[in-house]
Amino acid sequence: MPTLRPPAPLLAPSLLSADFTRLGEAMAMLESAGAELVHVDVMDGRFVPNITVGLPVVESLRKATTLPLDCHLMIVEPGRYAVDFVKAGADWVSVHQEADPHLHRTLHAIRSAGAKAGVALNPSTPVETLLDLLEDMDFALLMSVNPGFSGQSFIPRVLDKVRRLHSLRAHRGVPFLIQVDGGVGLSNAADLVRAGVDCLVAGNGVFKAENPIAAVAALQAEMRKGREA
Ligand code: DX5
Ligand code: ZN
Repeated sequence: MPTLRPPAPLLAPSLLSADFTRLGEAMAMLESAGAELVHVDVMDGRFVPNITVGLPVVESLRKATTLPLDCHLMIVEPGRYAVDFVKAGADWVSVHQEADPHLHRTLHAIRSAGAKAGVALNPSTPVETLLDLLEDMDFALLMSVNPGFSGQSFIPRVLDKVRRLHSLRAHRGVPFLIQVDGGVGLSNAADLVRAGVDCLVAGNGVFKAENPIAAVAALQAEMRKGREA
């Protein structure tokens, strides 16, 4: 059977934990460190109790890096804005299952606009809600904290959700990626990849480390352990 996973796991450092006056430098650092993606957390103060950045910032980030931009939309009515984020330069766009009653339409609009389409699930939303969307999405983002803030503790039960989604993927033979976001660090990266994760988001785990470049390498090394036999 062909593998449904990428050859190596991907790390997506989250700019939410970076210094917002120096985002250009943060992205240059991530490029030289060898991060595979840049995770951009878009929050509207309605879907989550925090407000971060929007389209103009994504446009500026696009000009400042060649790394793929992974925009995580924590906003109500994401279908109204998802394609605009692709036009602004996003390569991956995830929308929350809890925020959109028309996911099929939104996912296809993201794909038609030329980006990878993802569905994000809060910790309390079962992976089985994705059953009728598996072919329509390029990745699933499982939140391992309640969305809104960086620096929270990982919710261990998400490991079981990853395993369930990984086995659903194998059973159905659909090659979407599994991403986990929240409280990721050196203590859980290998276990998450072993459970089936292909892409890990890390905010504080990278940007609050003493040496962020070394932290990227250390997290990638842990992730690779999770793929060793
Ligand atoms: C939280 C965001 C995360 C956050 C992760 O709502 O979606 O991407 O930046 O930060 P850490 O890795 O510090 O939990
Ligand atoms: Zn995020």
